Amino acid sequence: MTGLDLSSPVAVVGTGTMGQGIAQVALVAGHPVRLYDAAPGRARDAAGAIGARLDRLVAKDRLTAAARDAARARLEPVDNLADLADCGLVVEAVLERLDVKQRLFGELEEIVAEDCLLASNTSSLSVTAVGGALRNPGRFVGLHFFNPAPLLPLVEVVSGFATDVTSATRAYEIARAWGKTPVACADTPGFIVNRIARPFYAEAFAVHEAQAADPATIDAVLRECGGFKMGAFELTDLIGQDVNESVTHSVWQSFFQDARFTPSLAQRRLVESGRLGRKSGRGWYDYADGAERPEPHTADKEQPPAYVIAEGGLGPAAELLTLIREAGIRVREEDEDHGTRLVLPSGGQLVLADGQTSAEFRDVVYFDLALDYRTATRVALSAAQDTSPRTLAEATGLFQALGKDVSVIGDVPGMIVARTVARIIDLAHDAVAKGVATEEDIDTAMRLGVNYPLGPFEWDRRLGRDFAFDVLDEMHERDPSGRYAPSLALYRHAYATDKREGTS
Ligand SMILES: NC(=O)c1ccc[n+]([C@@H]2O[C@H](COP(=O)([O-])OP(=O)(O)OC[C@H]3O[C@@H](n4cnc5c(N)ncnc54)[C@H](O)[C@@H]3O)[C@@H](O)[C@H]2O)c1
Repeated sequence: MTGLDLSSPVAVVGTGTMGQGIAQVALVAGHPVRLYDAAPGRARDAAGAIGARLDRLVAKDRLTAAARDAARARLEPVDNLADLADCGLVVEAVLERLDVKQRLFGELEEIVAEDCLLASNTSSLSVTAVGGALRNPGRFVGLHFFNPAPLLPLVEVVSGFATDVTSATRAYEIARAWGKTPVACADTPGFIVNRIARPFYAEAFAVHEAQAADPATIDAVLRECGGFKMGAFELTDLIGQDVNESVTHSVWQSFFQDARFTPSLAQRRLVESGRLGRKSGRGWYDYADGAERPEPHTADKEQPPAYVIAEGGLGPAAELLTLIREAGIRVREEDEDHGTRLVLPSGGQLVLADGQTSAEFRDVVYFDLALDYRTATRVALSAAQDTSPRTLAEATGLFQALGKDVSVIGDVPGMIVARTVARIIDLAHDAVAKGVATEEDIDTAMRLGVNYPLGPFEWDRRLGRDFAFDVLDEMHERDPSGRYAPSLALYRHAYATDKREGTS
């Protein structure tokens, strides 16, 4: 089943950035495609732009000249909505305004056949609301492509309250037939990706606002320790601070100002002052010709300790013990019920970020969570003002002996990567519990939609079921605003095993 015969024309309404990309995808898949735009001449311009992109594909040997000519012949800009009457699918990609979209679909419903599937590419409006004015909202579905649509494989297929299962299934099959990777998703603010990705930006901004580290250091730790392709500051500069902030703002408002989605004051200031990122020449970073990119904080060379005492394995950081031994540093393991720490020759302790702060303990240095301690090229450490300099130096020397750069940051709970990953895992569990999507689709969406090195559930399995809960629980105690409150779903997940063990 393909969801739509190739002979069936596809209409794209709104031929800006997204409309053009979606039209190209449908066209290359083999459909006749009609383009309509409210602005006179724009559909024709869009057809020209799509033709030029097909030429580039031919030049790169990714499309034959014959296939391009055939595709061009199937592409038709039209001047009236009435010209879309025989289309089997309409994908709307107009202005992101509820009244505009509702009015458009009301008109389209009078024009197209009863079995025509109606889809919106909205990224922030409710699919239920957009389809709300239709006589038959059952055939209306969200089909959320990512920019650039011809390149990015992910499509979120969003079912509104009234969407028929058959319509959602058709949309899913169509996306698949077009070579995309669809995921099924309920109508929720931000759908899957834009909902679950919020903490990636918010936590980086929060660490910066807490004066714990500068953007270059936080970005470097997210990349080189967390395994993310880009840091939050450089990524939002690329996306555009205005675009990124408006998604955050819309998700936060749609969740009735839920503290977990609170926007960043610093990002607001950037947007207000016109520092929108690469496109305006300046965002978190300066893109002017000749401007120097700031370097991340990297600690000076220190002597490695001669030995460490490992108390209780290191949980998700257990690989470190192997790496330390491989570096020729002696490890004495002691079985401790509650310990997951390294004791250094200074007597001070090195502890994996757990949501507490160094200042609460005597002589503790925290180290951040890495995606993979073997391949990580940088690790962040944090210490309190009264942590002994010798302990910090030994901790620094230890990681340097493993070949890592070390960034020493301020004493914030959950450091950088641990808090980010814990919050992403929490939102993912919460989304499954609320029926937004399956675990598998969430993992797929986060890997393909925002390029995460692991899906949240894959990460969760790697870390152990209580890691994210424990980090957030501690952070919530220190910041009771609700921002870090672990969800009921995460709580259940973390304690399910304990309960089963307790009752057996
Ligand atoms: N840009 C992105 O990264 C992105 C990603 C995913 C989804 N979206 C969503 O896709 C939609 C379009 O976004 P875009 O970035 O392509 O916008 P855009 O501004 O590039 O294009 C919008 C086009 O719609 C036309 N238009 C406006 N009102 C219309 C109407 N009533 N009838 C017909 N045409 C009309 C405009 O003339 C314009 O050509 C929005 O809903 C947006 O939220 C955007």
